[in-house]
Amino acid sequence: MSSINRRNFLRSSGGIAIPAVLPLSGLLGNDRQQQSDLPTHPQVKFFGDGEMYEPSDYIRILAEADKTVAIAKDRYGVGGVVEALEKKFTVLTGKEKAIFMPSGTLANQLAIAVLSGNKSKVFVQETSHVFRDEADAGQSVFQKRLIPLAKEEPFFTAAQLQKTIDDMGNAEAFLTGFGAVSIENPVRRADGRMVPIHEIKQIRKYCLEKKIPMHLDGARLYIASAWSGISIQEYSQYFDTVYISLYKYLGASAGAMLCGDAAVIDQMSHLIKIHGGSMYGNWTNAAMALHRMEGAEKRFADAKKLGEELFNALNKTGRFSIQPLDNGTNIYRLTVAKNIDGKNLQIQLNQQFNIRIPRPDNNNEALISVNETILYQPLDYLINSFSKAGLG
Ligand SMILES: Cc1ncc(COP(=O)(O)O)c(C=O)c1O
Repeated sequence: MSSINRRNFLRSSGGIAIPAVLPLSGLLGNDRQQQSDLPTHPQVKFFGDGEMYEPSDYIRILAEADKTVAIAKDRYGVGGVVEALEKKFTVLTGKEKAIFMPSGTLANQLAIAVLSGNKSKVFVQETSHVFRDEADAGQSVFQKRLIPLAKEEPFFTAAQLQKTIDDMGNAEAFLTGFGAVSIENPVRRADGRMVPIHEIKQIRKYCLEKKIPMHLDGARLYIASAWSGISIQEYSQYFDTVYISLYKYLGASAGAMLCGDAAVIDQMSHLIKIHGGSMYGNWTNAAMALHRMEGAEKRFADAKKLGEELFNALNKTGRFSIQPLDNGTNIYRLTVAKNIDGKNLQIQLNQQFNIRIPRPDNNNEALISVNETILYQPLDYLINSFSKAGLG
């Protein structure tokens, strides 16, 4: 812990950037929250999307949060911090209602099922979590025919969607109706690449004409927003339903939030129950997400900025090339100069400087991710560590 500059963390994570008109108690409250959110052994981790707390840290942070605002429990997802979190998400997304879900998978599947009603065709990215990573739930549980578009690509275009729909009209005898379009953004299996906003707008325009509802798998929407500069609310307005993860970067140990019109969201608690997802108590996850939502957008913006400053400085040393991906978000391609042993670099960064990176491959390359753990150290420390590690 000695190498960790808590002041820097506070400074760059928003503790100081508070308008002067804020009462002192507000400032202190914010500082206390940020400081107590540090894990016991803070480590800068260039992988993953956010801090994933160990159980002892989780318990301590919730206990601290409870001292500031008492945590109120829910009962089957009703009341307490769950209700408070749902309200926060309606403000964040601009949607009428939000509901806590036990998992993102259930949020995706139920949203698509309700939006598409009795129409069976649902268009998805071939690389999407809905298509590849939900155990064919769309087909086997919800009787949907998932139609994958843009194989191996991060996104499909409005023109591709339109052509597929036009072609189906000619190629199939019994049309069952076009139920929904689901878009994941950013795309996990495309190394966090984004769907360009102009394409989302074109797809929305076409879908409105065709009366096809749209779902957003925005598990990492905070990240898309930080890297594109487009607000979560703006992204949300192009979709009928939006899901955001509570554990990928908001500290919870599981859970998801689904937002949309009351007509859709009001159907969910019954559907969660019949699919076995209704849990008696959800407050441990909801309380953590509620607590960590405070200042999350600023932390991401600060992390992005610090990452860019670090990579610019390191690119000038001639030892590294760290470049963003096309349409990318928080995942960057690191290339280590040939005269440096990449594996040694990884080990020394970890052992001597408490910085973790994925192990470079045989070409001395790795994909590294920026998340809020970068804020645990000042820029100078980070530059210095990368410059000294791997030398001997
Ligand atoms: C893009 C995306 N959508 C949905 C999910 C599913 O989330 P959960 O693990 O909460 O079911 C994930 C999880 O990895 C994901 O990456």
